[in-house]
Amino acid sequence: MSTWNPTQYLRFGNERLQPALDLLARIPLEDPSIIYDLGCGTGIVTSFLKERWPGATVTGIDSSETMLERASALDAEVTWQQQNLNGWNPKIPADLLYSNAALHWLDDHDELFPRLMTGLNPGGVLAVQMPQNFSAPTHELIAKTARAGPWREVLEPELREHPVLDFSAYYDILSPHATRLDFWEITYLHVLQGDDPVVEWTKGSILGPLLALLNDGDKEAFLQSYREAISKAYVRRADGSTLLPFRRLFLIAVK
Ligand SMILES: C[S@@+](CC[C@H](N)C(=O)[O-])C[C@H]1O[C@@H](n2cnc3c(N)ncnc32)[C@H](O)[C@@H]1O
Repeated sequence: MSTWNPTQYLRFGNERLQPALDLLARIPLEDPSIIYDLGCGTGIVTSFLKERWPGATVTGIDSSETMLERASALDAEVTWQQQNLNGWNPKIPADLLYSNAALHWLDDHDELFPRLMTGLNPGGVLAVQMPQNFSAPTHELIAKTARAGPWREVLEPELREHPVLDFSAYYDILSPHATRLDFWEITYLHVLQGDDPVVEWTKGSILGPLLALLNDGDKEAFLQSYREAISKAYVRRADGSTLLPFRRLFLIAVK
C-alpha cells in the first residue's frame, strides 16, 4: 500500500514548488540529453525539467503508486517509472540526476551520493534539495508524540529523526567525485492559512507514512495530541495566519 497522498501533499503546492524551482534555476547545464527526476512524486517538478530542456529524455522515478498515478495524468512528455531508489542507478549514464525533497527518505547517504555520481556522464550534474529542519518543533513533536502513546512500538522504529547530514559531511562525501560543488541553504518563511495548517503540512509529507501505520482510533488520538503541541509552538497570528519557517539544504555537484 502506498503511504503517500498526493492531494494532501499538493495542499501547499506553491510553497513546496518554490525550492524545486530555486534548485532548477541554479543547474549549470545548457543542453542535457538524459535526465532523471528521483522521487518525482506528483510529477509537477518533472514537467518543469522537461519545459526547461524540451529536447531531453526525461524520466520520473518514484516508488509510490498513488503519486505516480497523479504524475501520469499530467500532459507532459515524460516517462514515469515505479521503482525503489534504494540501490538504483541509471542503465545509461545521465547528464542530470535531479531530486527535490526525496533523498531524505533514503538511508546511507555516504553510499548513496557516490553511487549517484557514478551514474553521471563527465560534466553531468547531481542536483539535490532536502529539508534541513529535523530539529524544528514540526519534527521533534512528531517524535515526542510517537513516544508518548500506545502507538510507540509501531511508530518508533519508523521515525526518521536525522536523515540529512550536515553540509560539511556532504562536502566530504561528494568532493572526491566532483569537479565543482555548489551548496546553499534557505530558510523559507511560509505564511499559512486555515485551521492547523502546520499539521496539515506535515500530514502531506513526513507525518503521512507514520499515520498510515495506525488504526483510525489511534490516528485521531495521535493527531489530537500533536495538534495541541503544534498550536503552542506555531501560534496563530492576530490576522489568522500561522508562520512556518522551513530550512532546506541545496547540493549541486558537477562530475
Ligand atoms: C516529498 S515527496 C517529493 C516529490 C517531488 N520530488 C516534488 O518535489 O514534488 C517525496 C517523494 O519521494 C518518494 N520516495 C520516497 N522514498 C523513495 C524510494 N526509496 N524510492 C523511490 N521514491 C521514493 C515518495 O514516494 C514521494 O513521492
